[in-house]
Amino acid sequence: MKIIIKKTYEELSKAAADIIKEAITKKPNIVLGLATGSTPIGCYQELIKMHKEGLDFSKVTTFNLDEYLGLAADHPQSYNYFMYENLFNYININHKDIYIPGGTTKNVEESSKEYEKKIKEVGGIDLQLLGIGSDGHIGFNEPGTPLDSRTQLVKLAESTIQDNSRFFKKREDVPKFAITMGIQTIFEAKKILLLASGENKAEVISKALEGPITPQITASILQKHPDTIVILDTAAASKLKKQYQL
Ligand code: PGA
Repeated sequence: MKIIIKKTYEELSKAAADIIKEAITKKPNIVLGLATGSTPIGCYQELIKMHKEGLDFSKVTTFNLDEYLGLAADHPQSYNYFMYENLFNYININHKDIYIPGGTTKNVEESSKEYEKKIKEVGGIDLQLLGIGSDGHIGFNEPGTPLDSRTQLVKLAESTIQDNSRFFKKREDVPKFAITMGIQTIFEAKKILLLASGENKAEVISKALEGPITPQITASILQKHPDTIVILDTAAASKLKKQYQL
């Protein structure tokens, strides 16, 4: 695991976008795994800027980590909607090359298998972008998820419902279930880029990066991944025991 610490969220976002830009430049038909939440928004804004300056997404394929069960693609709180609003509407990606789990799919088991199959068909994910939940989740793989899980229907932890209620009018409006890539699905990405910003992530970052590898903090599995880069701002890094260079 390579750990990079930046002073601010803006610097963190730029550093993440630079890594993605370099990867796209090297392999224009790259398969990217993408994340939602507030953390990657700055990185997406940088990528949009880079696109205006010529970065070409026309051959890129993307797979998103997760989607709320029960929210249609055009629901303002769906992750599908989020991705178009925060990135896809502003870059030249082919919409047919965008994959996001369907929140209103009739047969979740079947479509989860299809999702896995599609990832394999395109040769696997080259670069997976991740945030981390305050309970240590990656995707929506909540504490207790077996580390060999694949894309599936999951129940959201109460802490996640609480964290995400800020995006909904009422806490009761937050869906209780979601479809998420599994931990094994994520782990198979050739390269992983985990971002965390702010003091509220400091505790979980110290557990995930310096604690034992455990299904209780699903991000901890990344300690075993052969090519993971973690980019933190100083606030998110503030509880790490080891000293890292800025
Ligand atoms: P956040 O969410 O970026 O909004 O903090 C992270 C996550 O839950 O993965």
